[in-house]
Amino acid sequence: MDFAKELKDQIDIARVVSDYVRLRRFGNRYSGLCPFHNEKTPSFSVYAEHRFFKCFGCDAKGDVFEFVMKIEGVTFWEALKKLAEQSGIPLPKQSAAGDEKTKLRAVIYEMHEIAADHFKANLTGPDGSNVRGYLKGRGVTQQAAMNFRVGLADGSGRTLLRIFEQRGYKPEQMEASGLIGKSEDGRLYDRFRNRLMFPIQGETGKIIAFGGRALDPDERAKYLNSPETEIYKKSHVLYNLNRAKQPAMQLDRIVLVEGYMDVIGATQAGVTEAVATCGTALTVEQIRAMKRHSQNIHLNFDPDAAGEKAAERSIKMLLEEGMRVKVVGLEGGLDPDEFCKEHGPELYRERVSGAKTYFYWLADRARAKFNLRDPQGRNDVFQFLLPAIQALNDKIERVSVANDLASYLGVDSGYVLEHFRKAAADRAERSPAPPPPDPSRATDRILIPLLIAEPEARERLMGDIADIRALKDGAAGTIYAMIVALHQAGETIDFNSLHERLSEADQNLLGGLVLEAATTPSMEDGEACVEALRKDEVEARKRDLKAQIRLAEREGRIQDVFELMRHLAEF
Ligand code: CTP
Ligand code: MN
Repeated sequence: MDFAKELKDQIDIARVVSDYVRLRRFGNRYSGLCPFHNEKTPSFSVYAEHRFFKCFGCDAKGDVFEFVMKIEGVTFWEALKKLAEQSGIPLPKQSAAGDEKTKLRAVIYEMHEIAADHFKANLTGPDGSNVRGYLKGRGVTQQAAMNFRVGLADGSGRTLLRIFEQRGYKPEQMEASGLIGKSEDGRLYDRFRNRLMFPIQGETGKIIAFGGRALDPDERAKYLNSPETEIYKKSHVLYNLNRAKQPAMQLDRIVLVEGYMDVIGATQAGVTEAVATCGTALTVEQIRAMKRHSQNIHLNFDPDAAGEKAAERSIKMLLEEGMRVKVVGLEGGLDPDEFCKEHGPELYRERVSGAKTYFYWLADRARAKFNLRDPQGRNDVFQFLLPAIQALNDKIERVSVANDLASYLGVDSGYVLEHFRKAAADRAERSPAPPPPDPSRATDRILIPLLIAEPEARERLMGDIADIRALKDGAAGTIYAMIVALHQAGETIDFNSLHERLSEADQNLLGGLVLEAATTPSMEDGEACVEALRKDEVEARKRDLKAQIRLAEREGRIQDVFELMRHLAEF
């Protein structure tokens, strides 16, 4: 048997998925919000026993490898390797190689590890003392610097390049890593020079890029980040999600900040569920990555003009993705990092917990911007607030928010409601995709999971299954035929062996039938089904015979009538 199959049998897919998705258990089925599309109610299922996942909303489906490939954006080989390592099962030698792309990616990962070690050695070594002093001055403890693997890129512009050369990396590999640049005249150089280095890690903790903060105050670019590479898709990554996801799931809350230093400051203050966008505008992919761990976002962007604009835009997007948003208010115009340093961890934690629902924050902004006593000003306020209210999917919530806003703003609530009602009426109610129609009958829902799960059921029922016409002609006819064929050929019958032999449409049907069953149906239910089907079949044959007899009578075929009546009497 091949290694992948063997490995798959030993892995608990529900445990793997639950690293990425908050799951609830229903018997041997687990359910949660699909990580692959936007939804408010869970249509994503993991069927642990069958080592399979499926989303009924977007139709994402597959085994544990496919899940890891899709969610991590990695190749099959990488998924295999990762899962093997996680389960402590050594990879057989020949499979370590993989395809070209996987090999390049592995090399780039390796180069990032080397770079991080090198940057760290710079920081902790004799040449790092100034920068250590800088960190200390900014309140970053040694422990935190270690946890976040903070490092230092020296100013030579060649050091990392030499290390890579010594290790035998090829120029193409160096360039592909994004850590080494190439000048017009073709010479290679270190991309990061004289910078404080923050490794950016993927959700599993592998370093995939770096952010570098200038140490020279005269340097034009305060921050320089890795370019996109084979292993780094900027718009998909949130800084620190690898560490924050555990506490985020436990607390059911994520604190979203802007920068590296904010994450470090917040974490040191005990707010370990902090992640950062790192200078990019928040993307849908990032929101979905957070949503897998919690739907509650406490937004804590910088209080400057750019931060507030970004917050406004982010709130709208977060609401559109069905997140619940609160905004952390910090006094004194300080960013999270500065606030922690100035006011201490307790007060910061208090501010995070006491964050108010986003629309109070928006209303404050509106109040500061416009004059509420002036009719034009009031109108401007509503125009300003409208998008956020409209982004609320729930009609009742919209009305209640409008009401709250009216009283918060101190205007007549009738006026506000009138305004929003009109806007709400203009807007088609958004509703989640309806669940796909289920063409199967109750019998299929009992028989198919049972036949897959219970060898005994196959022994006892297979004869009937093979010749009951209603099953063959039904929606799941091909599935029954395949079960019968596998059984007769003496092959293993399990969810995956069956699944891989079916057409896409039948795969969907099978997935639906099996994943819907919270527990395996009992043998008794299965036998009752078969008995009922047998009876139905007998009745159907009798009806058919009677019809034939009537026809023969009308046509005067007396011989046939007698013959048919003899058949009928046999039942
Ligand atoms: N950023 C970036 N490129 C820039 C500026 C900022 O990528 N040219 C990102 C960095 O991830 C940075 C975040 O945006 O951490 C926030 O920027 P800023 O508020 O300017 O920096 P701080 O994190 O506050 O850094 P510091 O406190 O060291 O000034
Ligand atoms: Mn800062």
